[in-house]
Amino acid sequence: MNQRPLTVSRALSGLQGTTRVPGDKSISHRSLMFAALATGQTRVSGLLEGEDVLRTADAMRALGATITQDGDVWVIDGRGVSALSEPEDVLDMGNSGTAARLLSGILATQPFLSVMTGDASLRSRPMRRVTVPLSETGAVFEAREGGRLPMAIRGTCGAKPLTYRLPVASAQVKSAVLLAGLNAQGQTVVEEPVATRDHTENMLRHFGVPVAVDVMTDGGRRIALTGPAHLSARDVVVPGDPSSAAFPIVAALLVPGSDVLITGVGLNVLRTGLFQTLREMGGDLEVLNERIEGGEPVGDLRVRYSALRGVAVPPERAPSMIDEYPVLAVACAFAEGESRLQGLEELRVKESDRLAATVALLDVNGAATTVEGDDLIVHGLNGELGGGHVTTHMDHRLAMSAVVFGLAAHKPVSVDDTAFIETSFPGFVELMNALGAGIR
Ligand code: S3P
Repeated sequence: MNQRPLTVSRALSGLQGTTRVPGDKSISHRSLMFAALATGQTRVSGLLEGEDVLRTADAMRALGATITQDGDVWVIDGRGVSALSEPEDVLDMGNSGTAARLLSGILATQPFLSVMTGDASLRSRPMRRVTVPLSETGAVFEAREGGRLPMAIRGTCGAKPLTYRLPVASAQVKSAVLLAGLNAQGQTVVEEPVATRDHTENMLRHFGVPVAVDVMTDGGRRIALTGPAHLSARDVVVPGDPSSAAFPIVAALLVPGSDVLITGVGLNVLRTGLFQTLREMGGDLEVLNERIEGGEPVGDLRVRYSALRGVAVPPERAPSMIDEYPVLAVACAFAEGESRLQGLEELRVKESDRLAATVALLDVNGAATTVEGDDLIVHGLNGELGGGHVTTHMDHRLAMSAVVFGLAAHKPVSVDDTAFIETSFPGFVELMNALGAGIR
């Protein structure tokens, strides 16, 4: 990808208008994968056409699914759970951890050899969190030092079903194990001590697979399904991504005079920790027209400029807002008083070490931070902010957080590379400009 540097100056007037953010990334990946595993034809509307999801589409094609576009609708002719075919070449998952990890679960129980790689960011991310449990199915994984991509997967036929308790709160790991279970013989069980996003469970049910979810005595969840399972093609409507909506929302809260409406945003309660947190900070964030679309709760979000105050975010909230901490930290930098964001260890293994990169983003722009173990403390507004050069480490959310910082800062913020925004939010700068951000 060609590098795309950008300098962002303070917005001259409030952000105004109505907009819609691209489709949910988690749901988009799953819709393509599950449709490929189904029998029949699935039509997906609202699919996120970002780089990450396009890599998933390419991979599912390479495994034998037929994927075409009919205007804005994506049409997938599936192959069934046990009828994928060996890919002729290496599967390149680009920047996407979700694509790589979920696909590992699918490939573990397909009786052929696959080789998977990704870009420099993805090749540095841990895959053992999925290969350790998935190896118990009988599949063999050969990865680089430290369990990194590229990795070869020798899938197994007659896979053993797994019973697995997640050692980290990760929807990707949960999903990988459940996807392996679709083509295993018998009951697969995943226990998660803290609930993580449940799009896999919801969408498997949508495709006709019985998935049992029980709340355990410690408050965690036990999820079970029985293989071999049969998925029947069903149309999917993808809601707007709350993790993408986070950027115009925080920008509107920070830029004086803003009043913005974002329509059709996914409001699954396992994704909305940021919205709760912003309200606790005094943010004027209103949900209108709440409804169910494509099996997921959706609403329109009206957000108005607000004077924010510091907040304490408990560690158990992290899974419901795991991708939102960089932009929340930006909001905290402009808030009155101290904020304490707790339990951020998983941020270290995202597209970048997001804890270190978020600290650097704030520090270089004059906002004081302290890291205590896995907690990030942001010391709120004191003096002028901005004027820094942000290094984004191939991380789309770092880049968008830096842009939001620049819109609210006193001095311009420069960003080394905004090209990776394409992975999750194509048209981000144009959308912000349509609201009046004035980014050149
Ligand atoms: C995702 C799960 C989360 C999140 C990622 C998408 C998913 O990752 O950060 O952007 O779609 O399942 P983890 O499972 O690593 O927490």
